Amino acid sequence: MTTSQQKDAPSCTSHPQDEGPDSLPDKLTSVYHYCGYALNITRDFGAGIGVASAVWEAARFLCQYFESMKITFTGKKVIELGSGTGLVGILAVLLGGDVTLTDLPLVLNQIKDNVSANIPPAELHRTKVHALLWGEDQKFFPNDYDIILGSDIVYLECGYPSLIQTLQDLSNENTVIYLSSNIMHELGVDRFYNDLITQYFDCEVVSRSSDKYINVFKITKRCPDPGDKNKESKA
Ligand SMILES: C[S@@+](CC[C@H](N)C(=O)[O-])C[C@H]1O[C@@H](n2cnc3c(N)ncnc32)[C@H](O)[C@@H]1O
Repeated sequence: MTTSQQKDAPSCTSHPQDEGPDSLPDKLTSVYHYCGYALNITRDFGAGIGVASAVWEAARFLCQYFESMKITFTGKKVIELGSGTGLVGILAVLLGGDVTLTDLPLVLNQIKDNVSANIPPAELHRTKVHALLWGEDQKFFPNDYDIILGSDIVYLECGYPSLIQTLQDLSNENTVIYLSSNIMHELGVDRFYNDLITQYFDCEVVSRSSDKYINVFKITKRCPDPGDKNKESKA
């Protein structure tokens, strides 16, 4: 499967691990355990949604990070980009957040099914699922999120400017962004974190897998230099 099968997805390259066996069933449910919750996550292989129908290692690593840091999202307004199956965003709801899970339009049914299977009715009012195509749709969303989440969303080099624009538009100086990524040099993932995002954001690694392949980055928008404001007002 390639990302080009996805409606509106950039098709400049495919994820390197998105080839699967030919005889996959249409749907497959697996159980993931984090923070005391058993999450039933169904992957919809029949929906033609390519990389979105996998639970990527970076998603599992980000959930482990929440667990190990005992992170809670109570009272926090959260948005997840490229939710895929919804594993990360669903855990954020269960940990108390008011969470908007987003992805390409074709992926939303899979996310909604997983939300229904895992979020108790009393907590559904804190769960939204919306289409958000990076570089386009973020202008319809506010910029007062406390937290932005994304796992394995840095892998399409041609889409990096749209992704960075999206992070800029959705965030303010108090927003904390957690991105979890496989550091694939061949896809310029290290360049994204070292050279591109650092133009506008401060970025630190807060967790690294034992093989150093998967990193969780904590990213915050750089405050405008007060000197720049003075320069502007004098101009
Ligand atoms: C590698 S998958 C990761 C899915 C999930 N976050 C995980 O880690 O299991 C990348 C996700 O980003 C989404 N995506 C790719 N390009 C996108 C774009 N331009 N706008 C919005 N979502 C996009 C895909 O549909 C997919 O769900």
